[in-house]
Amino acid sequence: MSEVTTELSGGVLTVTISRPDKKNALTNAMYGALADALEQAEASAEVRVLVFQAEGEIFSAGNDLGEFAAQSRNEGPAVRQVERFLRNLVAASKPLIAAVQGKSVGVGTTMLLHCDLVILAEDAQLLTPFVNLALVPEASSSLLMPLRIGHVRAFEMFALGDPVNADDALAWGLANRVVSREQLHGEARRYALRLAERPAGAVALAKGLMRNTEQVLEQMERESRIFSAQLRSEEAKEAFSAFAEKRKPNFN
Ligand code: COA
Repeated sequence: MSEVTTELSGGVLTVTISRPDKKNALTNAMYGALADALEQAEASAEVRVLVFQAEGEIFSAGNDLGEFAAQSRNEGPAVRQVERFLRNLVAASKPLIAAVQGKSVGVGTTMLLHCDLVILAEDAQLLTPFVNLALVPEASSSLLMPLRIGHVRAFEMFALGDPVNADDALAWGLANRVVSREQLHGEARRYALRLAERPAGAVALAKGLMRNTEQVLEQMERESRIFSAQLRSEEAKEAFSAFAEKRKPNFN
């Protein structure tokens, strides 16, 4: 079965991440499928809302660390689909909803900053341990996260990698609602169906007015240059080796 599936019903394109044995870690191919889904949503008048959800215990363990390790050795793919995925996220004119259970790491959290409604299960934990991996924030999160939750909270998330639980995420403006795990996907769909009934033109215009896309893309470019260089650093190679060898990294 494909690791990213889509289903269109009632004007809602539901995009499901499904690689539970690897905690829904995202590969280049999966980013490609996510980018395709966003393009499909943009191109089809039938799609009025897109919902991201995931199967399994956690929403996503973030980027596949084996693929990061390969990229750090310059053995990555010719086309980095993550960049297409992120650009499509920023450019999306239709409302994006995310339904998140369990841990959501790295891009699993930073993608939420581009969603218009975020529903969390009670056990959700948002983590952005970029510095622990000797990396830097991506997806324009270095701009959007401090704007959303303030510098000191954002810095703690990025530099210490401490998890933010669902109640704090709600209080800090990272989510709309916290529900039980059983209610999660139903609640996201209820929101999506309500939005799908609204006039699509006004929804898109309102969304467009709320985001400075140019500024967000510019910051993403800046991050991307620093991220790519840092990915190839000795400290990042040590972080990836440590993960593969199931040991603590030694940055000394
Ligand atoms: N990339 C590749 N594989 C990953 C992964 C990732 N980001 N996250 C988890 N996996 C794999 C593990 O290697 C393991 O594979 P194995 O069964 O072949 O050994 C499997 O998924 C289960 O992971 P495990 O660590 O045993 O699960 P857990 O429930 O104890 O912990 C996490 C889950 C998400 C907390 C932990 O896996 C983790 O910290 N992952 C890395 C997250 C990360 O740093 N992502 C990058 C952010 S920029």
